[in-house]
Amino acid sequence: MIDLINLNKKFDNGFTALESINFTIEKGDLVCLLGPSGCGKSTILNLIAGLLTPTAGDIQFNGKSVVATAPKERNIGFVFQNYALYPHMTVLENVMFPLTVGKNKLDKSSAKAIAEEYMKLTNIEELSSKKPETLSGGQQQRVAITRALVQKPDILLLDEPLSNLDARLRLRIREEIRRLVKEVGITAIFVTHDQEEALSISDKIILMNEGVVQQYALPEELYLEPANLFVANFIGSPIINTMKVEVSNSRMNFGDFTVPLSVLLESRKKTEIQDGSYTFAIRPEDVKPELSGGLIDEMMVGESEIIGRDCILRFEKNGLVIKSIVSVEQAIKNELRQLSFNFNKAFLFDESGKRVY
Ligand SMILES: Nc1ncnc2c1ncn2[C@@H]1O[C@H](COP(=O)(O)OP(=O)(O)OP(=O)(O)O)[C@@H](O)[C@H]1O
Ligand SMILES: [Mg+2]
Repeated sequence: MIDLINLNKKFDNGFTALESINFTIEKGDLVCLLGPSGCGKSTILNLIAGLLTPTAGDIQFNGKSVVATAPKERNIGFVFQNYALYPHMTVLENVMFPLTVGKNKLDKSSAKAIAEEYMKLTNIEELSSKKPETLSGGQQQRVAITRALVQKPDILLLDEPLSNLDARLRLRIREEIRRLVKEVGITAIFVTHDQEEALSISDKIILMNEGVVQQYALPEELYLEPANLFVANFIGSPIINTMKVEVSNSRMNFGDFTVPLSVLLESRKKTEIQDGSYTFAIRPEDVKPELSGGLIDEMMVGESEIIGRDCILRFEKNGLVIKSIVSVEQAIKNELRQLSFNFNKAFLFDESGKRVY
């Protein structure tokens, strides 16, 4: 179990990268640290690994502080974005290397036996005698992961390990990483800024922005029950529709049309909804184009973008843009439709971005 408690990191130049981070990662979980560039993901990994020292707060493994423990003693495997294999060594020598140094070093033949056992697990046995420069990106990445695993670390940290790979290979390697991590039963933290990657690989996701944890939840929770506007906007593709709305006289005023507040489900309200300005958000799959009887009339479908089984329709009227996702058979272009919303699945955020519905 990994605990981060009120963890703060201020760099020497005075920049505070992490404000006060609190979370617990359960043993055996594969957790993704997700967030935009510069939000502090690598800083957290480096603090856990001991490559950086926190300014305040504590890091505990199984209830014991490790802040004063040297990186080597923390029993962590670290896989960096740029695999950092030793170029003059073969694959086998690369994988064996961690076992042949340090105070618990093994003799060559024991190290080789363990290395070969793990190379079987990651399907790189046939690369054994090759040099890194002759391997593809995906193969190098598998070697780097194998080298991290042979040390039987308690924790595996992976910092954007797939960012150098092409789209198809990313898909395959991320499935392999999940399989491996689960097979070895290790606790793993996987850093990415790709929401789709995080949603598909993780047991749980920690979504961050500007050094603050926005939400720590199951992938489906992040999608279905975003804690705030940042989360709603970050998770989901195509991106969620957002509209400004004024609440007054028990109605939501969208500008061109108004809707009574009573369309909102009582049970989904987080608080009583006071008069004022809000952001209304609705996912494209909860917007339906209709021939008649819709809530918003006469919206023009401009583009329609076919993305396989589904099609994204882009509606526009007086500067208001709303996207709807429908099945590919329902693709239309340059036609007028009325739109209806599934309010049971819509969200409302107050001016600070906090979710109220
Ligand atoms: N040594 C340093 N001194 C000062 N500021 C730093 C230092 N290292 C990182 N930062 C800043 O801290 C913030 C967090 O950096 P970090 O590398 O953790 O981001 P990240 O989430 O990993 O981003 P990316 O997705 O681009 O890798 C950034 O604004 C970065 O510029
Ligand atoms: Mg980073």
